[in-house]
Amino acid sequence: MQGFEAHPSMRVVGTMRVPGDKSISHRALMLSGIAEGVSEVTGFLASEDCLATLDAMRALGVRIEQPGTTHVMIHGVGLHGLQPAGRPLDMGNAGTAMRLFTGLLSAQRFDSQLIGDASLMKRPMERVARPLREMGADVRTHDGTPPVDIRGAKRLRGIDYRMPIASAQVKSAILLAALYAGEPTTITAPAVSRDHSERMLQGCGVRISTEGLRTTLHPAPRLTKLELNVPGDFSSAAFFIVAGLLAAPEEGLLIQNVGLNPTRTGLLDILRSMGGRIDILNARESGGEPVGDLRVHTSPLRGVRVPKELVSLAIDELPVLFIAAACARGETWVTGAEELRVKESDRIAAMSAGLTALNVAHSPLPDGMRIEGRAGEGPGGEKAFSAGEVDSFGDHRIAMSFAIASLRAAGPIWIRDVANVATSFPGFVGLAQSVGMAIRETAS
Ligand code: S3P
Repeated sequence: MQGFEAHPSMRVVGTMRVPGDKSISHRALMLSGIAEGVSEVTGFLASEDCLATLDAMRALGVRIEQPGTTHVMIHGVGLHGLQPAGRPLDMGNAGTAMRLFTGLLSAQRFDSQLIGDASLMKRPMERVARPLREMGADVRTHDGTPPVDIRGAKRLRGIDYRMPIASAQVKSAILLAALYAGEPTTITAPAVSRDHSERMLQGCGVRISTEGLRTTLHPAPRLTKLELNVPGDFSSAAFFIVAGLLAAPEEGLLIQNVGLNPTRTGLLDILRSMGGRIDILNARESGGEPVGDLRVHTSPLRGVRVPKELVSLAIDELPVLFIAAACARGETWVTGAEELRVKESDRIAAMSAGLTALNVAHSPLPDGMRIEGRAGEGPGGEKAFSAGEVDSFGDHRIAMSFAIASLRAAGPIWIRDVANVATSFPGFVGLAQSVGMAIRETAS
């Protein structure tokens, strides 16, 4: 089984770029596949998750050229041009792919089946199936989990849906189906979640508007093609933002071309409230998304109570926030994050197991975590983590979070079961080495 061996290193320094945004890359493939004309996407994330979406779109009859790893040309077939795949579509580890495809395919005239890897086959799918059924779709799950069986639909109807969880995947699945409905659809969310679908649909000429927590989409006669340069993934940058706060000297660590969509950057607000020095440089817009460069400096951190309204804006970054919290002075509390229980792993349980193995005082909560920080700074300072071995539970973000913990560890950290890092962050180890981290891949 693939692992990481990460040794303490005192300095993380230099200039880096992280790979393209995963959420935007999935959406770019799906929307340009049903658009008219040839869309061109650069900065595409060629990770296992997004390649599962790419394969599925090809199986549905969309021609996709890949002149370079991160450069794709998608020959759109129009809203009604998708063809039956003739086989189950394998989404691998990708929850976003499975949930968004459930929406898109429930509006087609043909049947489809969606399957995934062992982790994805255990994840909840009724959250998307239920509203789609309200729209008239025939979507079946197996005790709430995949395989997802979709029967070719009659005409879907628009709905006014009050979404019980702040999920961008659920919202996006409904929006994709709503493109094909007879009437407009409105979704009311309990809190803000990432809005990449809304921005991209608008870029494709769809009538969609958001007022506060309500989003309304008008069924579209057609989608126009996309020209998109995908920004670096904030969720991938997050590991190096925390690395920089723990170990970047005065000149700082510069992370260029990072997506800074405000529905994604809750971690910046949280880390700044903990005392983190993170400067945004060169703020600009690219393909309808805010982008900038981040300069991060080593900062003494203090524990905080994370405001609940920031949780959905930082949901994928909470594992690495727990690492930052373990290096802060005082306690950090995260609550209202029960969604962590149903990610690629149960991230509260997985982080708690790893923190225990590395002797970090903490308590897992039903909906979050309490962490007692150990702020020892400088070469002689007390270390936040002891040396030890942790399990990623096959979860990419758990694996990378504990790799970052090595910067403040008393000795090496071994991380088991890391192959899934390739689902979101190809080249993580090489990039980490390039800024000074002492990490390598192992085969045991
Ligand atoms: C995503 C939405 C979030 C996030 C996931 C990607 C998306 O999931 O955790 O990694 O691209 O829409 P939820 O919608 O389940 O919150």
